[in-house]
Amino acid sequence: MSMESVRIIDLPKILDERGNLSFLQNEDQLPFSIKRVYWIYDVPGGEQRGGHAYRSMKEVIIALSGSFDVVLFDGKEEKRFTLNRSYYGLYVPEMIWRSMENFSTNALAFVATDSMYDESEYIRNREQFITESNGK
Ligand code: TYD
Repeated sequence: MSMESVRIIDLPKILDERGNLSFLQNEDQLPFSIKRVYWIYDVPGGEQRGGHAYRSMKEVIIALSGSFDVVLFDGKEEKRFTLNRSYYGLYVPEMIWRSMENFSTNALAFVATDSMYDESEYIRNREQFITESNGK
């Protein structure tokens, strides 16, 4: 997959003086149906998460609170996305290497995916990723 298929999804934002509301809804906003969600929190300063690609899994990453950077690599080009708004979803398709870093205090990374957890989906070695992605 190339970097061109990565994109920021602008989620609905219902502004209200009582507090704002956003939502994520299958089909309407996402190029896949959500099967699993997970979240990353209590990340100590300076730590990095991720450092892998998925063979066929797709994800949307949202900074529900605080901020962090998602660094993406398609085998050729690298791009950094700073997420710091709860109404932006970063769509990451399959076969994109990704790591997450620069977590602010109290950052909450929310991730929605199209499949169940499956370790065989992971490519955890960057060299292997480059080999596999350039063969596609
Ligand atoms: P991993 O995806 O490697 O974390 P990250 O990429 O965010 O650094 O997952 C870390 C561990 O958590 C790994 O041992 C598998 C487990 N895990 C699950 O059991 N279910 C899940 O949905 C996820 C995302 C991870």
